[in-house]
Formats: sequence, C-alpha cells, structure tokens
Amino acid sequence: MCSAELPRPVIDQGQVLIKVKSLSINPIDIKTREGQGIADLITERPVILGWDISGVVEESRSTSHNVGDEIFGMNNYPGHGKAYAEFVAAEALHFTLKPSNISHKESAAACLAALTAWQNLTVHYQVTKGDRILIHGGSGGVGHFAIQMAKYLGAYVVCTSSVENREFVLGLGADEHIDYKAVNFEDHINDVSFVLNTQNEHIAERSLKVVKSGGTIINIGSEVTEELRHKAGAKHINVFRTRVKSNGGDMRKIAELLETQRLMVYIDSIFDLDDMASAHQKLSSGKTVGKIVLTT
Ligand SMILES: NC(=O)c1ccc[n+]([C@@H]2O[C@H](COP(=O)([O-])OP(=O)(O)OC[C@H]3O[C@@H](n4cnc5c(N)ncnc54)[C@H](OP(=O)(O)O)[C@@H]3O)[C@@H](O)[C@H]2O)c1
Repeated sequence: MCSAELPRPVIDQGQVLIKVKSLSINPIDIKTREGQGIADLITERPVILGWDISGVVEESRSTSHNVGDEIFGMNNYPGHGKAYAEFVAAEALHFTLKPSNISHKESAAACLAALTAWQNLTVHYQVTKGDRILIHGGSGGVGHFAIQMAKYLGAYVVCTSSVENREFVLGLGADEHIDYKAVNFEDHINDVSFVLNTQNEHIAERSLKVVKSGGTIINIGSEVTEELRHKAGAKHINVFRTRVKSNGGDMRKIAELLETQRLMVYIDSIFDLDDMASAHQKLSSGKTVGKIVLTT
C-alpha cells in the first residue's frame, strides 16, 4: 500500500465529486489489497481501495444531490470504490443525506457493514417478529449493526463473541450472549430460524445443529462448499453466500434508523488517512469492536 498525489477526479453524468471528511475500512479492503476479495473485479490501475465515505458534495452532475449536501454511502460495490482519497468521484445514487444528529465519522462507519446487515436481514432473509436468530461475531462491524437491526425488526437475538464483548453486545439489545471461546455455541442454543455467519465455513457447518428444519444460514465471510450444501439439504436447511451491493434506497433506511436513534454506531478507533497502514494492521487483528474510521 502506498500513497500518491493524483489529479482531482473528473465526474461523469450521474456522479458527484465528494470532498471526503471521513471514511471507514472493512475486512474486504484487506482481502482485496492481498489480491483476494474482489481484486479480480478491479482492472483499472492504480487500484484505490475503499468504499465507505462521508463528506460534502463539491461538484454535481446528478439531480439527486446538490453542491454543499453532506452525504454518505458505499461507492460502487462490488467495483472500484476509490474511497481512500481526499476527493472521490462517486455514484450519486449510492449515497444519501447524512443525518444532522451524527458526525461524519459515525456516518462513514455505517456504510458497507450496515448495508450488509440490513440486506441480509431484510432482503436475502426476511426477519419477522418473533424470529429466533443467531448472529456470529455480534461485536464486529457487521454484527453490531445486525443485532440492533434484528431487534428493530422484532427478532429474539442470540449472538456470539468473546466474553470481553459480552456487555457490549447485550447493551446493543442482544437477548443472549454465548462466549465462543468458553463453550461450544451449538450446546447452548437450538431451534433458530436464521443464522448470520460472519465467520468461517466450520462455524457454518456447526451451525447446522442449531437451525430448525426450513431455516436458513447465510455465510458472508466464507464460501459454501458442496459438502456443506449437501449436509444442509439433508436437514432441509437453506445455506447460501451473499454479497452486499451499493444501494441508495437501503442507505436512506439506514439514515432513518440513525436519525431516529434506533441504530447507533460504535467506533473502535480513529486514524488519519495518512496512517492507513496502522488502520489495516488494527483491523487485521480480528478483534475490532464496531468500526475503524479514518479522517482526512
Ligand atoms: N459478503 C459480504 O457482503 C460481506 C460484507 C461485509 C463483511 N463480510 C465479511 O464478514 C466478515 C466479518 O466482517 P466484519 O466487518 O464484521 O469483521 P470485523 O469487524 O473484523 O469482526 C471482528 C469481530 O469478530 C469477532 N470474532 C472473531 N472470531 C470470532 C468467532 N470465532 N466467533 C464469533 N465472533 C468472532 C470478534 O469478537 P471477539 O474479539 O469478541 O472475539 C470481533 O469483534 C469478514 O470476513 C468480512 O470480509 C462480507
């Protein structure tokens, strides 16, 4: 990873030029930097990593946002987001107005991870009132949003994390916490209708024991192997992998939840844009609570 002076981007029709105030990072940034993740989808060079930004519209060639608007969103995912920059040529339709009651740091944090939680709980699986659900990694970027959104949707929420984050996840509204280091989660919960698996495929396989017939497991951090699909099929459980997509309509819903304080953002740590390497190192630890944010 290196930094460079590049000309200010020129915007196309449908785009806005955003002067970035804050941005946030996600594990996909690290995977893509290492040539995995969505590296194959980015052909243009240089690769400018990152997707999550919050800032002010400097120029507009869109009818949806005007110069001076404060907006936030996940730019062009899965694609070349180019968010690690002071100015970003952004797809106007992927953004929405920042609620006035939160900071740019908080709104930048509520993009890819919040969209992932929302799209999995409302589109790929539709959580309904009274659903009993399990969220693996409730203290992480995706997990901490997913707990709050699932409670908003009326679910009974069980989540896993280490004991250090027990009070944090219960404070977000989780009904039960399981310390994945101390016990096997599958011995402590059963009859769930939905599992949001932010962890590896072994956790997905172990989750088969806790899901009732007709239930669903969504893997967001790992592939679904043929073997897993086969085992799930034998128990009448749906298992599949999803990928988040930029969506301005979903961003508007997230903005509404933030504005009405039904959703809060937890910021683990804040770095300067110049210190991106330290931010990546911190995220790589796998111990992030909530989100890591950078400011320009
Ligand atoms: N497919 C998609 O669209 C999509 C979108 C977003 C993210 N993802 C993927 O989803 C995964 C999670 O993303 P994220 O942003 O939430 O990551 P993250 O913020 O780095 O997650 C860190 C959290 O994971 C918890 N954790 C670590 N090992 C665990 C385990 N064995 N069981 C339960 N919790 C555990 C940690 O809690 P403790 O410190 O308490 O252990 C920590 O709070 C990543 O692989 C990411 O690439 C995919």
